[in-house]
Amino acid sequence: MSRRILVTNALPYANGPLHLGHMVGYIQADIWVRFQRMSGHDVTYVCADDAHGTPIMLAAEKAGVAPETFIAGMQASHAADFAAFGVAFDHYHSTHSDENRRLAESIYTRLKANGYIVSRFIEQAYDPVKEMFLPDRYIKGECPKCGTKDQYGDNCENCGATYGPTDLKNPFSVVSGAAPVLKESEHYFFELSKLQAEVEQWLERADVHSSVKAKLREWLDGGLRDWDISRDAPYFGFEIPGAPGKYFYVWLDAPIGYFASLSALLGNDDAKLSQFIGPDSTAEMWHFIGKDIINFHGLFWPAMLKGAGHRQPTGLSVNGYLTVNGAKMSKSRGTFIKARTYLDAGLNPEYLRYYFAAKLSDGVDDLDLNLDDFVARVNSDIVGKYVNIASRCAPFLNKYFAGQLSATLAPAVADTLGSYFGAKPAAVFEAYGRRDYAEALRQTMALADAANQWIQDVEPWSLAKLIEQHSLGPFRTKTGRDVSFVSADEVRKSLHEATTAFIEIFRVLTVLLAPVLPNLAAKASQFLGDAAGRDLSQPQLGYTVRAFEPLATRIDPAQIKAMIAASTESLGSAEAPKAKPAKTAAAPAAPTPPAATAAGAEAHASIEDFAKIDLRIARIEHAESVEGADKLLRLQLDLGPLGKRQVFAGIKSAYPPETLVGRLTVMVANLAPRKMRFGMSEGMVLAASNDQGGPFLLAPDDGAQPGMKVK
Ligand code: MSP
Ligand code: ZN
Repeated sequence: MSRRILVTNALPYANGPLHLGHMVGYIQADIWVRFQRMSGHDVTYVCADDAHGTPIMLAAEKAGVAPETFIAGMQASHAADFAAFGVAFDHYHSTHSDENRRLAESIYTRLKANGYIVSRFIEQAYDPVKEMFLPDRYIKGECPKCGTKDQYGDNCENCGATYGPTDLKNPFSVVSGAAPVLKESEHYFFELSKLQAEVEQWLERADVHSSVKAKLREWLDGGLRDWDISRDAPYFGFEIPGAPGKYFYVWLDAPIGYFASLSALLGNDDAKLSQFIGPDSTAEMWHFIGKDIINFHGLFWPAMLKGAGHRQPTGLSVNGYLTVNGAKMSKSRGTFIKARTYLDAGLNPEYLRYYFAAKLSDGVDDLDLNLDDFVARVNSDIVGKYVNIASRCAPFLNKYFAGQLSATLAPAVADTLGSYFGAKPAAVFEAYGRRDYAEALRQTMALADAANQWIQDVEPWSLAKLIEQHSLGPFRTKTGRDVSFVSADEVRKSLHEATTAFIEIFRVLTVLLAPVLPNLAAKASQFLGDAAGRDLSQPQLGYTVRAFEPLATRIDPAQIKAMIAASTESLGSAEAPKAKPAKTAAAPAAPTPPAATAAGAEAHASIEDFAKIDLRIARIEHAESVEGADKLLRLQLDLGPLGKRQVFAGIKSAYPPETLVGRLTVMVANLAPRKMRFGMSEGMVLAASNDQGGPFLLAPDDGAQPGMKVK
């Protein structure tokens, strides 16, 4: 039965270009859309730019343009990148659109009429110079615990303490530098708690990965709290009806942007729209999102929809985060790669689709783009295995048989060929359907491997040679098989049947790879002609192929180098080590371990206390600045036999990162790993400092080896 399916992708923020991490979820959804269409289902696939909110407002201001101008440029850049990667939305819209205003107002008005909206006064940090309320991330100050300067209002990079923005000492506005004041204003709240049972019921029946369900249930078990959906002017967004100076919070109108894009696609025909979004819709509605926005799509959105009398999502497909070469994407390592930079390096966008697909199952695990593996895998699978089948056989088929496949096959050949049809492709389709692309491609490549083995075994090139030499054999193939022929016709027949079988297998593989490699499959289909579209239940014989054009080229590792170079932001060089201000002692690398502090100060530490601390020699393998943290360096430490550690240290003021690489230092190796805003910190390096200076990183004498215990 044909299904009607609405598919959406998370709407990218209009505050920057797309990077390869973004592309994971979009490629994942696009593959599914293509697969469902191939299976005969009626799919509508929409997306849009997420154009509202404070960061975009401030970014436009910084760029010196109106927000409308700013977001228009971003939208165009996003749309171009998606198109280049074959992510083919039926419509790409913006949340800053008439459609979205109308739908957001309608949903809000219904929520209000249904008794889910309340208002109350709250106190918030306010920038008296800029005259705006400050979201938490726009306030910095000193850590209330250890006094480290320039910390965000959530946790301290230095001591790891967690707190709220109002706990910061000497807080300042990141926007103007002014000290924020507390100011009261009226806010509108969506009373989620009233819809808790409905959200729970939805979650029971929704098609959501078990690990995501578990997370959502955990939140639900904690009880849903009212959600603040208004922001005060100045704000770039939609004014709330009947509430002058109050705007919808960006996350209120963002998911409604799915409907706005759909509405625009449908020519704003409300009857058509309600077939998708009305309470009785029989269409499926799937949202493809990243793991960081599960709460919005699995709690708030289903509640909004229910409360406003719309249908709820059928399922959520949640992708993990992309790492590059095993680590978070990094500007200094050149692995923070923009989608455009990849394209500019001349790399085929479908190769990235293939690599991501090969690593995507239906789970939420992070996936790694290992660039060496990327080159090896693409060159081996796409060029070496798939394309190879056609490029080895097509010339013979064209030369000796005018491109026409044999109309009959000997029983043994028919038997073997038959095993590539029916159940095997069906299993691949089944894996695509449940978004286990890794499995789909594993099985597809197993077929390609078997086919290549078969080709090796038959050696069509040897048969062609026999024809050329007017000889009948016997000959022994490379795989040790003895072949002899009684007539020249028999040699020709053998070659014809073999190439027929291989081209048919190539057709199977082309169909199986089409959702992932749409352009390559289209080129291959041109070669295959009308037969390309026939089904995979059984071999098709006797048709004629067209001239064979080279289909794909290998990745040249030089392209990867160029891409990395173009993505690398130079380190330190611009920032000569600053003269150390006498008073503001820079954040020490780590507070001195408790035992050491205690020794000179309040209490004595026992030998046992000291023994608890595992101090080790570490070699600094890599050091880099941390974006958004002026004083921090991210260090990659080598502990020899004990492995590697990532540590964040507040020593940037004294040590440009490149001066640290290769040197030895001392670290506390048995601290519990701590999650920081920038990643995991797995220990501390030791440095001395006081009001007069520092930090001074400790270093062992010559001869010490990474991993040695310090005692
Ligand atoms: N605007 C919101 C989504 C609103 S949906 C109604 C947003 N935008 S985003 O630009 O930050 O992210 C867009 C999508 O890309 C999200 O699904 C997000 O999870 C995903 N990713 C962003 N960085 C990513 C990686 N490094 N790796 C994988 N996905 C990533 O969130
Ligand atoms: Zn602190």
